Amino acid sequence: MPLKIQQTASTPIETTADVAAIALFAGATVKAEPLAALDRALDGGLGKLLERADFTGKKDQVLEFPTFGKLPAARVILFGLGDPDKLSDADLRTYAAKAARAANDGKSKSLALGVPAGVTGARLRFLAEGAVLGAYKFVKYLTGDRRPKGELEKVTLAGTGAGDKKKKGASDPSIELGQKIAEAVCLTRDLVNEPGNELTPADLADAAARVAKQFGLKCQVFDAKEIARRGMKLLAAVGQGSANEPRFVHLTYTPKKESKRKLVFVGKGLTFDSGGLCIKPAPGMGEMKSDMAGAGNVVGLMAAVAVLAPEVEVHGIIATAENMPDGNAYRPGDVFGSLDGKTVEIVNTDAEGRLVLADALAYARKLEPEVIVNNATLTGACIIALGKNCSAFYATNDDISAKFAAAAKEAGEQFWRMPLLEDLKDQLKSDIADLKHVADRWGGSITAALFLREFVGDTPFIHADIAGPSFADRAAGFYPKGGTGHGVLTFLQFIEELA
Ligand code: BES
Ligand code: MN
Ligand code: ZN
Repeated sequence: MPLKIQQTASTPIETTADVAAIALFAGATVKAEPLAALDRALDGGLGKLLERADFTGKKDQVLEFPTFGKLPAARVILFGLGDPDKLSDADLRTYAAKAARAANDGKSKSLALGVPAGVTGARLRFLAEGAVLGAYKFVKYLTGDRRPKGELEKVTLAGTGAGDKKKKGASDPSIELGQKIAEAVCLTRDLVNEPGNELTPADLADAAARVAKQFGLKCQVFDAKEIARRGMKLLAAVGQGSANEPRFVHLTYTPKKESKRKLVFVGKGLTFDSGGLCIKPAPGMGEMKSDMAGAGNVVGLMAAVAVLAPEVEVHGIIATAENMPDGNAYRPGDVFGSLDGKTVEIVNTDAEGRLVLADALAYARKLEPEVIVNNATLTGACIIALGKNCSAFYATNDDISAKFAAAAKEAGEQFWRMPLLEDLKDQLKSDIADLKHVADRWGGSITAALFLREFVGDTPFIHADIAGPSFADRAAGFYPKGGTGHGVLTFLQFIEELA
């Protein structure tokens, strides 16, 4: 059931809810509001508690305590937001997400989310986004005792200075927008969390088609036969070792007012990556169900685009396959043609992502967009370089790169630009074909990006390697454990910035 989000002019401590979250800026004290009112409601003693916890409203400080029946809420959580002048939209989202995650403990059904002083109108969107993102849980496969007893059903944005005055049931359009955008991100997360046996390439294509239908997008799906007929030989090669055949998906959003401007987003969709004949070691292999996170991002993004309705054409492209070792699997040493026409010598069958993407990029290029944005869980080397919480991005154009970096910052997601080092390109030379698809070990994320660049021609190109942040081993900020949907909000912001 979707989260019910409403607003009220009352303060969080006056609002009936199981949990009350209160946002405080640096320098918060029990002598001033809103803590003074809270102290009165609790019959004193809050000052000592704050002192002992050293809570003064500094950024990221959190203090939680029970109310022993003195307030409508059984629990109060104080959140420090630091300097009010530095409070970004992404900070608002993170605050709401942390509150919703803490409130969604299996016992509480409602949260009164204090609106930070001065936050109104369009900025309520980010609180709504955070509430939905923070309340997210993937519980589909839990049964009996393992199923949460209750789930967070209602979040009331408390202290908006509105709401009560409005007609009952009427909600702010920015709240509704925020909720829908966050639900699109959660759609991505659901796809990423699905195990490989439940989400095959055909299932992923079906999911994309369902989303297209729901949001009024055009959707084309090519099956294995059509992939072969069109000459997507690299996608076919990667998929040939699995009984679950590959698919190619093309989603299109067309604005109401016709636009000549066109953006294309491409995603890697390996529903499972065993490594193929160059099989991966067992530890961590299960995580490779998330090797379709780039494609998952494209699906979520297209849903969000349909909601936001920008005045620019947006295309979403997914190359999806399963990389398995089998009698018919592709081998190291094999040579294949490609949609682009270039021939490729296979070096390591575990570097399958760049192969399926090469065909997707060649297809994207023919759409003649102003930019192609690729995103993929492409290399372990990228995680070595930047850690688990930051994606790499590569750009062939400095101006677009700056816009992309600004979009990521605005969205509150970590992306760091890495260089397309030209001297490493020699390592992609093959004796027998136009290109080898893997270079030396060093700079592995860069050489993967250089390989992809071979297939976009002169089209301005951004490639994001999201291998680290797309699947998390712990919840942090507005990301949950597991599939995070990292990237969707950045891409959406990038579109907003360009459109
Ligand atoms: N899907 C993996 C990359 C990956 C690794 C994503 C860990 C998320 C977490 C990719 O297909 C892969 O296996 N890459 C190889 C490339 C190598 C064989 C050149 C890698 O990074 O080891
Ligand atoms: Mn691989
Ligand atoms: Zn992979």
